[in-house]
Amino acid sequence: MSLHTEVDRYESLTPQSRGLWDEARRYMPGGDTRTSVFWPPYPLFFTHGAGTQIWDQDGVPRTDFINNFTSLPHGHADADVTRAIQDAAAKGAAFGGGNEPQVRLAKLLCERLPSVDLVRFANSGTEATMNCVRVARAFTGRRKIAKAEGGYHGTHDAVSVSVKMSPALLGDAADPDAVASTGGVPDGAVRDTVVLPYNDVENSRRIVEANAAELAAVIVEPMLGSAGMIPASLEYLTMLRDVTQRHGILLVFDEVVTLRLASGGAQERYGVMPDLTALGKVIGGGLPVGGFGGRADIMELFDPTQGPKVSQAGTFTGNPVTMAAGLAAMEKLTPEVMMRTEALRDQLVDGIRDVSAEFGVPVQVTGMGPFYAMHFTDHAINNFRDAADVDQEFKRQMFLGLMNEGILVASYMVGSLSTPMTEADVESHVDALRRVLARRTE
Ligand SMILES: Cc1ncc(COP(=O)(O)O)c(C=O)c1O
Repeated sequence: MSLHTEVDRYESLTPQSRGLWDEARRYMPGGDTRTSVFWPPYPLFFTHGAGTQIWDQDGVPRTDFINNFTSLPHGHADADVTRAIQDAAAKGAAFGGGNEPQVRLAKLLCERLPSVDLVRFANSGTEATMNCVRVARAFTGRRKIAKAEGGYHGTHDAVSVSVKMSPALLGDAADPDAVASTGGVPDGAVRDTVVLPYNDVENSRRIVEANAAELAAVIVEPMLGSAGMIPASLEYLTMLRDVTQRHGILLVFDEVVTLRLASGGAQERYGVMPDLTALGKVIGGGLPVGGFGGRADIMELFDPTQGPKVSQAGTFTGNPVTMAAGLAAMEKLTPEVMMRTEALRDQLVDGIRDVSAEFGVPVQVTGMGPFYAMHFTDHAINNFRDAADVDQEFKRQMFLGLMNEGILVASYMVGSLSTPMTEADVESHVDALRRVLARRTE
């Protein structure tokens, strides 16, 4: 009933988005070109953003706490990043050769990420994890990979297994089945992917050991992002490092999101070094990007002067506009700025907990660094199944409610803070949640 209240408000605030969506459905299936940003009754259409704010088709401003799924660390149209894009674009969008911004960004990443000796670029995080999987197979001569249940690594076949789906389909929690998470994934890809129960040290170790002879890599997000910003325990990552090392399996950290947990990413924050790292989002300053790097002896398989043993290409890979944008964004993402954003995020988390307690609504707020997720439940959230076990209708109500009150988060109640945010933004988020909770039974 109260979900209907929020849906009604949403529809009355957003008629222009509705109109554009109706038109879009004539040309794109479901009026949508990106499954992850669809939500019922229809998604918003946006016209522009500036700093912490984003405007929809009806001219309604909102404070953006998701920033294109955490890819805009400095919010929208940051002046330095925009200037870098304009300057680079004015000199030509892409060339069939190298360019200097590419070298500068590669140097910055190799210097910041403790485990990365050499790096390459791509056009998406999907391509980044795909190349990590491919080079791991080539390096080890083995076929299978292991990933965590609920872990999201993009949209290629090998990782489109046991991602976001009903836990009822996923088998035993301690010994999860591998299940295609979308139509069109070949059985062979599913058979070659082993699924680990996240944060379950003993069972994951047992499963890796049982498959060790066939495993090329274990790929893991140090914090499950789209499953609800669920940090791995240090013990879990340490176990993965140890068991992979003992069996000659490569450990791949997917740091597409977690790069912002420290200057050197989650690997620096946890002090656990992977063999390979997948990158994306912030390293492109808001433009399409991916990156992957790691140990020199593995990355050298891409070296064209030596073969190469693994080929990697892409018409737009490493283009100077993206590289210049990424460099400008990364140079501004200093340890001091990250610490300031993290302190603000801690204030927000306290506020969310306090205001939920005021109304007697149970909430678990997870995340680290600038990232947070709201799980409206009283059980602890340590893995994908914990996060899935919440009242889905209430979650939708809260998402639309916050949207109606001027706060944009992901539809799965995940958010991140951008560097231009201040205490006033945090307060407006908490106040918005208070208003939504106050009318939750209307
Ligand atoms: C952890 C992680 N890996 C990989 C990807 C895929 O990146 P892209 O959407 O650029 O393909 C994402 C995207 O959200 C992600 O969160």
